[in-house]
Amino acid sequence: MKSYTKLMIPLLVLLVFGLAGCGGDKPITNVGQLHFDHPLKIPQLLKPTISSDGTKHFQLTMQSGSTEFLPGKKAKTWGLNGSYLGPTIKVSRGDHVSFDIVNHLEVASTLHWHGMKLPAVMDGGPHQMIEAGETWSPHWTIDQPSATTWYHPHVHGKTAQHVYRGLAGMFIIDDKDSKKLPSNYGVDDFPLIVQDKMFTKDGQLSEKDDTTYGTLGNEILVNGTYDPFLKITASQVRFRLLNASNARAYNFGFTDGRSFKLVANDAGLLQKPVTLKRFKLSPGERAEIVVEFKPGEKTVLHSYNSGGEIDRGEFDLLKMDAASKLTESAPLAGQLSTVPPIEVPKNAKLRQFKMTMDSKINDKKMVMDRIDEIVPAGAKEIWEIDNFGSSHNFHIHDAAFRVLDINGQKPPEYERGRKDTVFIPNGATVRLAVEFVNFADPKHPLMYHCHLLKHEDSGMMGQFLLVKPGTESKVSKKLPKNDMEYEHNGHHE
Ligand code: C2O
Ligand code: CU
Ligand code: CU
Repeated sequence: MKSYTKLMIPLLVLLVFGLAGCGGDKPITNVGQLHFDHPLKIPQLLKPTISSDGTKHFQLTMQSGSTEFLPGKKAKTWGLNGSYLGPTIKVSRGDHVSFDIVNHLEVASTLHWHGMKLPAVMDGGPHQMIEAGETWSPHWTIDQPSATTWYHPHVHGKTAQHVYRGLAGMFIIDDKDSKKLPSNYGVDDFPLIVQDKMFTKDGQLSEKDDTTYGTLGNEILVNGTYDPFLKITASQVRFRLLNASNARAYNFGFTDGRSFKLVANDAGLLQKPVTLKRFKLSPGERAEIVVEFKPGEKTVLHSYNSGGEIDRGEFDLLKMDAASKLTESAPLAGQLSTVPPIEVPKNAKLRQFKMTMDSKINDKKMVMDRIDEIVPAGAKEIWEIDNFGSSHNFHIHDAAFRVLDINGQKPPEYERGRKDTVFIPNGATVRLAVEFVNFADPKHPLMYHCHLLKHEDSGMMGQFLLVKPGTESKVSKKLPKNDMEYEHNGHHE
């Protein structure tokens, strides 16, 4: 009896801790399970119609459909102009753009331009609802440095579901600096939209969301492609990585250990390329890299285990196969962005934000008619984010920022450029030098929030107004209730 108990206790300990240690059952990985036999889907470039005044007009239709992810199985999905994800929009700095966003879903949604500088009423946040059957028609002038931005719904309480089902797409802004890099879309310049998913036995997207972070999938899609490969035909290739996952963060690298050049963060190009072997992206973040290939080389883009709650696991993402003959690319430019780094004045205003476990920011959950902060348009401020537990990140609409420090230390090399979304490690204090756009609007709020979509949906979001400098104290922090939920800025169908 005695020896039996002695044996049982360690066994029980092993069992309990063994299970807790790997998050339930087996380690989270897809390594060894893929064949890399599906050609990577490349979202179409959306063709605008150009009006006589030069405005580029685009149409996006939100629709439901079915998509084959797992071979031979069709999943019910949502997409824009297609069954899953949306086309890539590519414009140049200075362009006037206008959109018709047609909602052919059976439910209301919105379309937010993540990373875009525009008037608040065009932002597509939770106040710019598009009812089922209706059309929203925003328009603005592109006036910001080249960047890889993206679009996705922002319905308060429903963003996770709408994005997970497939409503997202890439929005590329070009300028003369950006053209120094490989820029031939689909040839030597590729979007890589990375999303984790869980599938049911019959190949449907599982919306089971049993973690405090929401769905953390065990399978990865790139541009909506399961088990993908990409044929490489140029000696230098630019990849625009977008983490469009609901909660998972990735630690990107290549299985052959190669290094590559990081050339851009979320909100624009770096001054100079930075040589890296790994970098992380949390949900909503983007990066551009340039990878050099020799004829016949093969490698796999991989996400390495970081061991945290949202970046645990090992994943193969995309196999790259270089052709036996490659087009010789121009040498990589040494000087990329000519935009100076974001600096704040000495007496810059400091705002503090406390993120807590209960999905609150500064002890409050998001309320649609409450304004939390009033910021002078065009201001440069320091925002200090304190994470009091669990993993979060932080995104600000209509702003670009530079990470000043994380717990007083310089940020890692891969996040020193212009950004609009940043990972906030558990327990950390992150200080940002934030530059706000210069559009004042005392009526239409903008958002700041955790971009882990379940957190955002459950209230980890606040609203700010950009107002004419000097009018801060005159602006109401209460929004009128009636025109709130269903404010339309476009025409009805
Ligand atoms: Cu990517 Cu407030 O959004
Ligand atoms: Cu945004
Ligand atoms: Cu969070």
